[in-house]
Order: sequence, then structure tokens, then C-alpha cells
Amino acid sequence: MYLVTGATGIIGRPLVEALLAEGVEVRAVSRAPGAVLPAGVEGVAPEAIGVAMKGVRGLFVHPRAAKDGTEELLRLAADQGVPKVVVMSAINVDDAPEHQPSRFNGDRNTEVERAVTGGDLPWVVVRPSSFAMNTLAMWRGQLAFGDIVRGPYAGFAEAVIHERDVAEVIVRALLDDTLLGRTIPITGPEALTPQEMVPIIGTAIGRPLRFQEVPADMAAQAMIRNGLDERFVRALMARYERETKRPPTVTHEVDKILGRRARTFATWAADHRGAWS
Ligand SMILES: NC(=O)c1ccc[n+]([C@@H]2O[C@H](COP(=O)([O-])OP(=O)(O)OC[C@H]3O[C@@H](n4cnc5c(N)ncnc54)[C@H](OP(=O)(O)O)[C@@H]3O)[C@@H](O)[C@H]2O)c1
Repeated sequence: MYLVTGATGIIGRPLVEALLAEGVEVRAVSRAPGAVLPAGVEGVAPEAIGVAMKGVRGLFVHPRAAKDGTEELLRLAADQGVPKVVVMSAINVDDAPEHQPSRFNGDRNTEVERAVTGGDLPWVVVRPSSFAMNTLAMWRGQLAFGDIVRGPYAGFAEAVIHERDVAEVIVRALLDDTLLGRTIPITGPEALTPQEMVPIIGTAIGRPLRFQEVPADMAAQAMIRNGLDERFVRALMARYERETKRPPTVTHEVDKILGRRARTFATWAADHRGAWS
């Protein structure tokens, strides 16, 4: 039995599916009483987690779902003799707090990771790069108006990762003891700029999409007008600015752990071709 927190989210859903594909049983934590879960998965309300730890062979700590409750979650796991914890954080988790844009939206990846590595239970840390899924949030709205995606920093390249690769690495961390004690930064297979990514999405959805760079300040103003937190937007722009000047990180850990190449952005785009309209 494996207990998954954050089970209805971007990583949680493919994680639950990948665990089921391994033939193991899953309990899925969700705040939503009516959360739709795959057949055979036991839904668990957050207040019932203590009881749900019984018989669990591995706990997945999702940083957004666990957040301030991480130490309590670990205590409940220890009380029931759970032998292993896998925590997801992020590849930028060692950066200064002001250099982690998601902190301005409330994420606490550093603290959640530290609670797990500083605790008594054997652990694995998985630190993903930016999710390929972010491109949907960033660009889908613009595609309703035409084939041009406008944004800042055309030269900023990063190796975004497919959520199913994140999920499958977490599965290996939960099921295999060989990864115990490791902190694993995982990325997609190659760094791509928005100028390269947008046409790849175009190929997947059959449209001649292209990226057009706009000044960072103009892009930032538009994002703030659209409701994003100003401190988040400023931190994001600063990150692009900083990271455009240094080589992008590509780790190839997904290949080593899964024994096959990490999924490409083209694969991700094809898998999500229906999500753009
Ligand atoms: N986006 C990226 O590029 C990226 C890259 C690396 C790391 N990360 C980190 O990964 C995490 C996000 O992962 P994700 O996209 O899988 O998360 P998500 O889909 O937004 O959330 C996962 C689940 O957690 C529950 N949840 C959400 N907000 C919550 C809250 N405030 N309190 C309690 N439960 C909450 C929800 O489940 P229920 O409603 O069913 O309870 C949700 O389905 C963040 O910590 C982020 O910093 C993100």
C-alpha cells in the first residue's frame, strides 16, 4: 500500500496511475470529498491520514498539499511504522528564497524538503525542473487570438519535464530501495527556448505557431494585469534574466533511473494536443 498526498494534481494524477500500473495498492489524499479517482484507489480525507498510514510501505509527500503540515504528516507516518518517504521539491530549492518565484505564490518547497531530510524516516528527494505543463498556463490564452505567442526572453532555455516522467521517477523512488538517501535533480532531455517550444506545440496541434519576443517590462505588466502576484512576476523575470546568462541545467537522471530517454517536449505536446483549445 502506498499513500499519495496531492493526489489529484498535475503530478499526483499520473503518479497514482503509474503506481497502479506497477500493480500496487494506492490511497490518495484529497480535500475534495467527491474527488474522482481511478478504480480501486482509496480516497482519504486529510483529517483521516493518521488511520490511512496503516500498512503503508511508502509515503509520497507533495510539497503544496503537505506544506505546513509536513512534520505532522511525518509523525503520523513514523507512528504507523511507514518505512520510507519520498518528497518532491524543485530543482531551484537551494537558491535564495527571493530567487524562487513560486514562494511568492505560497509554495514552501525548501521547508518541506528539509522537514523530510531532517526527519527520522528513510527518504528520497526528487527535485524536478519546470513542468512542461506550465506552457499551457502561460500560452493557451494567447492562442485563442492567433498563431503568435508573445513573451519575454526569447533566448531563455530550460529543459522542461513531462509530468509522467516526474511521476515515474517518484514511483521508482517509492518502490526501489536503491535510491534511498538520494537527492535527485530531474529535467527534460534537452533545453529549449520559447522560440523552439512554440513551433513544437504548433506541429502537435496543426497550426503554424511562432514566438515573438516582447520587452520584459511589457510582458510583466500584462501578467500583473491578468491577476498574477507582482512579486511572483518580478521574481520570474529576474530568473529569466539571470538564467539566460548561464548554461541551462540538463541532468539525464530520468534516463538513468527509468532506463530510457526522458520524454521530449514534442512528446509532451502530442500528449496534450487536445488541451490548447
Ligand atoms: N510548476 C512547476 O514548474 C514546478 C516545478 C518543480 C516543482 N514544482 C513544485 O511542485 C508543486 C506543485 O505541484 P503540482 O503542480 O502537482 O501541484 P497542484 O496540482 O497545484 O496541487 C496538487 C494537489 O494538492 C492539493 N492542494 C493544492 N493546493 C493546496 C493547498 N493550498 N493546501 C492543501 N492542498 C492543496 C490539491 O488537491 P485536493 O484539492 O484534491 O486536495 C491539488 O490537486 C509546488 O510545490 C511547486 O513549487 C513546480
